[in-house]
Amino acid sequence: MTLLAVETSCDETSVAVVQNGRVLSNVVSSQTQLHVEYGGVVPELATREHLRNFLPVARTALREANLPAASIDAVAATQGPGLPSALLIGFQAAQSFALVLQKPFLGIHHHEAHLYSPWISGNPPAADFASFQPNVSLIVSGGHTLLVHVQAELQHRLLGSTVDDAAGECFDKTAKLIGLAYPGGPEIDRLAEQGRADAFDFPRPMLQEANDNFSFSGLKTSVRYFLQKNPALLRDTQRVRDLCASVQAAIVDVLVAKTVRAAKRLGVRCLTASGGVTCNRALRAELAKATQREGLALRLAEKNLCTDNAAMIGILAERKLMRGASVTPLDAETNPSWALA
Ligand code: KG4
Ligand code: ZN
Repeated sequence: MTLLAVETSCDETSVAVVQNGRVLSNVVSSQTQLHVEYGGVVPELATREHLRNFLPVARTALREANLPAASIDAVAATQGPGLPSALLIGFQAAQSFALVLQKPFLGIHHHEAHLYSPWISGNPPAADFASFQPNVSLIVSGGHTLLVHVQAELQHRLLGSTVDDAAGECFDKTAKLIGLAYPGGPEIDRLAEQGRADAFDFPRPMLQEANDNFSFSGLKTSVRYFLQKNPALLRDTQRVRDLCASVQAAIVDVLVAKTVRAAKRLGVRCLTASGGVTCNRALRAELAKATQREGLALRLAEKNLCTDNAAMIGILAERKLMRGASVTPLDAETNPSWALA
């Protein structure tokens, strides 16, 4: 099967072509630079940018796959959740494409696609469903922090999520307090590299609570109070590095501990992680350490597939169609607040 997939749920315009589990092309146009001066994604700007980028991105994806549009057997797009107007651009474009080609169309849940991105690897990338194992999957991005039990291929159950800020949001807001550029996650990661993680003691929110939820807004607030009490610290480069390392450690500790704890409780032998925050080097290293200690397998999404991309949409859509999933009507609408079941 050859499938064209589209993702426009936030600030990445992406089109991919997948064929029998292999990613033939995965073109991602990121708008991060556009939103830098606003310190966050501006939905109206994101939408206009999707509109501007969609056709060039789609054309490039087809060209890189070296396939004419007529050879596409099916079309898929992110149906939700996401920014309402941004979702509409990719979803409607993909529906029109399916209509014209008279091919089946499938609307995909963005987070369900994240669940399978850690199974895509290699160059050229391909989905390795042969080694799939039941797992606990951590999805950590700027908008979401979810813990999911993936019992079998295409079968999952939401365990918990953040009750306030997402982990990426915590990185970004903390970075803003320190005076770092948006998006702050990569900046904190970079500065933390040369900092001491035990320099300052920040709370590990909800670490001890017997549930699979997260909370990060309190951590951001304690950094704010800390900086109010220690304003001179920001003029000392090494202290800033220490602060970044200490905040990062607090976030990473909670994510790792709760993910490992859920896996042990459920008797699951494998952890996976995806979403922009999974690019974080400390998170990757600590997940590796913890899983090794516990004798668990670990699959981390490759860095270019951690952030939003159409390859993961396509891989999941193709798998679903191959397993007999019913197609999505061409008059179906997007679902911006679609919750993962
Ligand atoms: O998945 P993503 O590109 O977009 C959505 O939010 O959907 O994730 C972006 C988030 C931002 O909050 C960004 O700061 C964070 O991922 N991020 C990181 C790193 N790279 C990206 N956070 C910590 N360390 C990183 N290296
Ligand atoms: Zn995402």
